[in-house]
Parts: sequence; C-alpha cells; structure tokens
Amino acid sequence: MTLSDQIQTPAFVLDVARLRTNLETAKRVREEADCKVLLATKAFAMPAVFPMMRDYLDGTTASGEHEAIMGAEEFGKEVHVYSPAYTEDEVTRLTRIAQHIYFNSAEQLARFGAIARDAGCKVGLRVNPGYSNATLGGDLYNPTAPGSRFGEVPGLLDSVDWSGVDIFHVHALCESLAEGSVGLIEFVADNFGKYIEQVSAVNFGGGHFLNKPGYDVDALIAAIKAFKAKFNVEVLLEPGAGLVVNTGELYATVLALHRNELDLAILDASASTHMPDVLEVPYRPEIIGAGDPGELAHTYRLGGKTCMTGDVLGDYSFPEPLAPGQQLIFTDQMHYSFVKTNTFNGTPLANLAVRWEDGVIEPLSNFGYEEFRRRLGR
Ligand SMILES: Cc1ncc(COP(=O)(O)O)c(C=O)c1O
Repeated sequence: MTLSDQIQTPAFVLDVARLRTNLETAKRVREEADCKVLLATKAFAMPAVFPMMRDYLDGTTASGEHEAIMGAEEFGKEVHVYSPAYTEDEVTRLTRIAQHIYFNSAEQLARFGAIARDAGCKVGLRVNPGYSNATLGGDLYNPTAPGSRFGEVPGLLDSVDWSGVDIFHVHALCESLAEGSVGLIEFVADNFGKYIEQVSAVNFGGGHFLNKPGYDVDALIAAIKAFKAKFNVEVLLEPGAGLVVNTGELYATVLALHRNELDLAILDASASTHMPDVLEVPYRPEIIGAGDPGELAHTYRLGGKTCMTGDVLGDYSFPEPLAPGQQLIFTDQMHYSFVKTNTFNGTPLANLAVRWEDGVIEPLSNFGYEEFRRRLGR
C-alpha cells in the first residue's frame, strides 16, 4: 500500500471500492425503507467521485451557500441547505441554487421563509428534539446539548405557522449506531406528532453511522417504515460520516527523529493542520502496523512540524525503529478530515488522491505555495 512517488505526502487517498460498498448500504436503506438519502458535504466533499456517488444517493445537503453551489454544480440531483443563520441576500441567492431551504428557528423562518416559498423552494424548520444519542466528544458534538444554538426549541413550536413548513428537520446524532437512529425516530414520532401531521416530509439529519461495524441497518429500515406508515410522510436521512467511514487513509512521511526523555518522530502530517479532529474531538487515529505505546518494541510520540507544542498525533509503538523517509498510514481518514485542513505555519495542504477500482491511484491535487498565499489576500 505504499504511495507512488507521483503523489507527495501528506496525502489523503480515497478507496473507491470501499466507498461503493458503503454506498450499497445507503441504496438498500433508500430502496427497502422507501426514503431519501443525501450526502452531507460538510463531512466529505470530493467532486471527483461525485459521478459514481450520484447513482446511489438522492442529492446533497449543504451547510451554506458555497457547499450548495458545489452540490448543484458537481453532484446535481436534489440540493438541500441548512444553516444556523442566513442573511436575506444569502436566502435570495440560495433560492436559485437549492430546492430545499431549512431554517434554524421560528425567527429565521418568519423573516425569510416567504422568500424561499415564493421562489418555489420547499421550506424546512430544524427542531431541537431534546433527544440525542451522540457517541462522540460529549457535548462538543451533541446538537441538543444545553444552550445549543441548533434548532427551534419544543416550547416555541406551537407559535410556528406550520402551513409555511414542508419539512420537519432534526439533526441530533453523531456517530450513532442504530439504537440512536431508531431512538430518535421513535422519540420524534412519540413527541412531535401534531407538527408532523402538518408537513409532507421529515428529515432525520445525519449522525447515522450506517457503515460502522455493528450498525443494525435492518432496525433502521424497520423504524423508518413504521414512521412512514404512521404519518404518511416522505422521510430523508442526510449522513456524512456514515457514508465514508473506513474508505480511505492519510499517508504521511517521517521527516526527523528526536529525543527528549521520549523518542519523538516529526512527520509531514500534522494534527493541527491535517487532522484537527485529533485535537478537537479528541481521538486517536489508528496507524497500520502500529500498536499502543509499549505494545511493540519501539515507542514514539508522533508530532507535526508546526510551532504548536500540542500538535501531537499520539504515542504509538512499532516493531522496528522508525527511520526518516518512512511512510506511515493513518486509517479511516475520509470524514471531517481533508475538508478541515488549513495552512497554519505555511504548512502545505495534504494532497488528495483516489484509488479507483482498477487499482490505479489518481492524484487530484498538487497543493503548493499558491494555496497558502492565496488565502492571505493581496
Ligand atoms: C444538519 C446536519 N446534517 C447532517 C450532518 C452530518 O452528520 P454526520 O457526518 O455525523 O453523519 C451534520 C453534521 O454536523 C449536520 O449538522
């Protein structure tokens, strides 16, 4: 699995065969539950593979205008967009790009809903259901955490003019297995029926970790079917991570070795610039062939080459001593990874590449100084 000299590390490499397997799960859910599945492009946005993804999904959901433009231009099919806050101008522009515009609150809906409706768009309202099963990062990733800015609170829903709302939207999960998905669907059915009877569709958001080993897809399908039978509405899901879990790696190179009480290795990949979730969530990425500290003969603390002391990827052990020039492969790096990279310290962005199903690896980028300089303005 070493990367050819053609592609400079650090580089994210998507494996299309594995992506297709994941997309088959989405297709099964769509077909068996008779629902729609959208790609949340905030989690994964690689236009080079949108043509093959298009066959499996109903469209994309965007976090704002720029993702919506990308969804419309590069993916096609349905374009949905939700943002915690819009300006009037943004909503007006979005009506030309998206067919489904979701508002975060009764206040945003009252101010801008008519613009979307008059332009022929379907209107969604995000509701904070007060139920979550987010499994990641505690309240940092729980959209229903106390004080959360996401979604209208149940106490205000009676004041909403539901005749102007087509889609009831909840996004309350994060890396949740089927218990979370089913729990949310049942909770919404039990607690929000009087609003759902007034809309034509319910969007159960993302966070459904569909392709994670242990996710009971049949349970999800059964819950959606029961919900649809009860309310006779269209159902949508908009996963991001769950569509691309375990579909690609980040290749990095050891640049230097160092010692300060511990053995240290400095890589061309960095937590701060290439894998910010390692620090934010936080979490420990796996490395092929490596173990926990002390498990194998040679333990190193791995860090990036930025100036931030905390730019540490973690402590790992290896069967042999590391050497400069050696490649390390971090697994499961497709969701919320390359979409979040930055050029802090002038660090080059990680390159992007695709391993197609015939085994050929195609580079998608050759990022250099220009990416760094362009973002600093004139
Ligand atoms: C409104 C909304 N929909 C969908 C998603 C996608 O979630 P995930 O990638 O966890 O499936 C998110 C993630 O933050 C979101 O905020």
